[in-house]
Amino acid sequence: MAIQWYPGHMHKAKKAITERIKSVDLVIEVLDARLPASSANPLLAKLSSDKPKLKILNKQDLADPERTELWLEEYRTRSDTSVLALDASDRQAATKLISESRKLVPNRQSLERPLRVLICGIPNVGKSTLINGMLGKKNAKIGNEPGITKAEQRLILADDFWLYDTPGMLWPKIIVEKAGYNLGASGAVGRNALDEETVALELLDYLRRHYLPLLQKRYQADPSASAHWFDDEWLNWIGQKRGALLSGGRIDYQKAAERVLTDFRDGHIGRITLETPNQWATWLKKGQQLQAELKAAKLARKVARKS
Ligand code: G4P
Repeated sequence: MAIQWYPGHMHKAKKAITERIKSVDLVIEVLDARLPASSANPLLAKLSSDKPKLKILNKQDLADPERTELWLEEYRTRSDTSVLALDASDRQAATKLISESRKLVPNRQSLERPLRVLICGIPNVGKSTLINGMLGKKNAKIGNEPGITKAEQRLILADDFWLYDTPGMLWPKIIVEKAGYNLGASGAVGRNALDEETVALELLDYLRRHYLPLLQKRYQADPSASAHWFDDEWLNWIGQKRGALLSGGRIDYQKAAERVLTDFRDGHIGRITLETPNQWATWLKKGQQLQAELKAAKLARKVARKS
């Protein structure tokens, strides 16, 4: 299943970001630490190619700490890029963000020359919560339905530090199939754009391969028997354990899928990261190959039609 999600207002966001980026010194991208690559925006990478960048691996409290370390190392190897892992409970978030930004752009630290920063992130990465926490008051909009727009705001984090906030956006085409599933699992993609049962099965398949003990513990499954279960057997078990039943005791798979996704999103299964830098590199290569094949096939059809 390919998830393609591009609400109309995201066109507006792209325009606003393209315009704003011209007059900022630094671009901050807020990522979901559970899926750093899937939650990144390739379009933003393109638009901000000539600016210093700060990546924030947000919601680190929900992510696997070992894997967060791998991602931090990965981002640190990039030139012009710095990285921070944060979460909503971090009272030092503003201090850390300002200090890291100043290292990247040391020559703008005065009232006459404030550091101008654009902060972006796809929906649901926790950008509003982070901004609210840093401002110390609840004035940035927080919504639990992804994709809600708000007008651009200029936020004064310090007299010489201006933060431009933009509405969230996703990219027009998700070329890595797993990115679609991971975004679905995290809650970044609107409910009407995905099939929850398919997303839950993909999630369970990943968890049984990489986080089996957490899955077994959360759903009280016999370790030796459940070690051999496939994703559909897990969904069946979870349906029973979590009371997702229809009349006659049959499993309500839709409800079971919703329960697994909610458990994952709320961190009830444990601290989990759905991709490593190496896994991502493999998936990306596959996605790019597929794109190239589709392009070549399209071209061949065009040529055939003409001849
Ligand atoms: P956005 O602006 O990027 O779209 O995201 P937003 O701040 O609205 O956050 C999306 C959801 O993620 C919210 O939950 C929020 O509470 C939660 N969240 C944000 N930052 C963190 C974090 O660092 N750690 C954890 N564990 N959760 C975080 P919600 O269920 O949509 O709303 P609510 O629970 O706040 O009512």
